Amino acid sequence: MQALSTRHLLGIKDLQKKDIELVLDTAKEFKEVINRPIKKVPSLRDITIANIFFENSTRTKLSFELAEKRLSADVINFSSSGSSVKKGETLLDTVNNILSMKVDMIVMRHSSPGAPHFLSQKIKANIVNAGDGTHEHPTQALLDAYSMREKVGDLACKKIAIIGDILHSRVALSNIFLLQKMGAEVRVCGPNTLIPKHLPELGVKIFHNVREALEWCDVANVLRIQLERQQIKYFPSLREYSLYFGINKKMLDELNKEIVVMHPGPINRGVELSSDAADSHHSIILNQVENGVAVRMAVLYLLAQNN
Ligand code: NCD
Repeated sequence: MQALSTRHLLGIKDLQKKDIELVLDTAKEFKEVINRPIKKVPSLRDITIANIFFENSTRTKLSFELAEKRLSADVINFSSSGSSVKKGETLLDTVNNILSMKVDMIVMRHSSPGAPHFLSQKIKANIVNAGDGTHEHPTQALLDAYSMREKVGDLACKKIAIIGDILHSRVALSNIFLLQKMGAEVRVCGPNTLIPKHLPELGVKIFHNVREALEWCDVANVLRIQLERQQIKYFPSLREYSLYFGINKKMLDELNKEIVVMHPGPINRGVELSSDAADSHHSIILNQVENGVAVRMAVLYLLAQNN
């Protein structure tokens, strides 16, 4: 049986192309499973997984929990609001207490970049990064890649534009790493203030005109403006952002080609994407959510083999 080259999924940066292919191929099998009348398999029976979320989440948290339950794992959920973190407990103490209850795997979302990497040096359980601050969100990039591959085929030589708040987005960075490893060309588009200065070093070209980006790409991955991470003003107003970088259905229909529109959610309708674009035939946003469960089942299943 093929195995992942790692015990933890901390980021896409550490993965090899063959790891990514293994996750995507395994996810395809799990997608078949979850579309059967009996959606559950016993693969992770006797494995206990703790989902520990120190930051808000809807899709990612529910998707992991469902993936774990469909693999028959035992699941416990922890969220920092209402916990002893508020009483001053350290991250490591919190996690060590959870692990003493015989937990095998940790799925963690944290606002500090590198928090799961730090933990991986201190504890024995497998760790899955469910988003660390502005750094990485590996399972989102994997489910995005799965959804793209399902829609447009092999990713090699495909043109992907990531449009929006690139500076604060862990989805953007994980997508860039993954798509480049798979041989796709990635470019970004957004206001200059929301483009990290190091991007050209990664070989990523930049558009400042959203229509040019749309004309260039096969797939547009549209991102939310992460206002909660912005301590200063990066652009005058959301209205102005939407005027220059917002995407509507008319813009998509006027392109002389097929285009696929993606978004990791949550969408701010009317800001980065109009409702008619988000709900149009160009959009695969709900397919992404569906595929998220299968991709996370694949990740958890494969990591459990490396325990
Ligand atoms: C993203 C996240 O939390 O990084 N959402 C998600 O996981 N589906 C993107 C975002 O919050 O905008």
